[in-house]
Amino acid sequence: MIVLGIESTAHTFGVGLVTDEPEVKILANVRDTYVPPKGGMKPGDLARHHAEVAAEVTRTALERAEVSIRNIDSVAVALGPGMGPALRVGAVVARGLALKYGKPLVPVNHGVAHIEIGMFATKSRDPLILYLSGGNTIIATYYEGRYRVFGETLDIALGNMMDAFVREIGLAPPYVRNGMHVIDICAEGGKNLLDLPYVVKGNDMSFSGLLTAALRLKDKVNIHDLCYSVREYAFDMLLEATERALALTGKKEILVVGGVAASVSLRGKLEALAKDRGVELKVVPPEYAGDNGAMIAYTGLLAYKSGQKVDPEKAMVRPRWRIDQVEIGWR
Ligand code: FE2
Repeated sequence: MIVLGIESTAHTFGVGLVTDEPEVKILANVRDTYVPPKGGMKPGDLARHHAEVAAEVTRTALERAEVSIRNIDSVAVALGPGMGPALRVGAVVARGLALKYGKPLVPVNHGVAHIEIGMFATKSRDPLILYLSGGNTIIATYYEGRYRVFGETLDIALGNMMDAFVREIGLAPPYVRNGMHVIDICAEGGKNLLDLPYVVKGNDMSFSGLLTAALRLKDKVNIHDLCYSVREYAFDMLLEATERALALTGKKEILVVGGVAASVSLRGKLEALAKDRGVELKVVPPEYAGDNGAMIAYTGLLAYKSGQKVDPEKAMVRPRWRIDQVEIGWR
């Protein structure tokens, strides 16, 4: 069986192809990511970008996979969560392909897809999951047919906070240079830990107060100290919530998925935590860390084989679709 997956929830339009014969294999993973000339991402600009690149990305993915669209078995699409205008481009392309070629359409939750591709790529069995991306900071575990959210941010996501911070102090975009987030590059010269808000409530975290307080200090302190402090406070909040979740769930593996998984400095801290608690740390490989079509195709394959599909006319986008609302019929 071959599944084509379409990703368009945020800045990336991606198409992936996955087969399960004779074993599960990613055949292609092509993407085009929108980088705003300055400032944050406007939903309308994302939609325009995705509409412009959709045909080319889809064609290239099929060519790399050496598969004709007629020979695929189903079309999977990320229907949420994400930005409405961006999501709608992927949904329109997927519906169009499903109807034109008579293929079943499989709805995929973007967050669940980040988790599933991480499980697949790292061969995790039953991990404590850290889903860390631009828009999400979630600590989750699988339990009885669903991914349950154990802890999450109460306001903005960790990735979003770091991006907004470096943007507001004039260092970005781009947010990543030479594979490093700009906050890490800026933090290299910092050594003094400044006084900033640290907010962990139960298993949940809050990053918006940290951002506001840091920006208030930006012209009054050494900028390297500020970058260093923001990063240390943010990561330490996440580490505290993670450690508590590990203690409570007794999980033996930590799996990190999502774009922030690529952070070398976070990885170092998590490695120390894992060693301390005698658990294994698994991090999704860089090619599947950020948003991509392969993760949608792979999760679509799992979902389709467990009987999930949707009538193309009823395939509406769901900008606020949470991972714990998804029935996991394949685990
Ligand atoms: Fe994502």
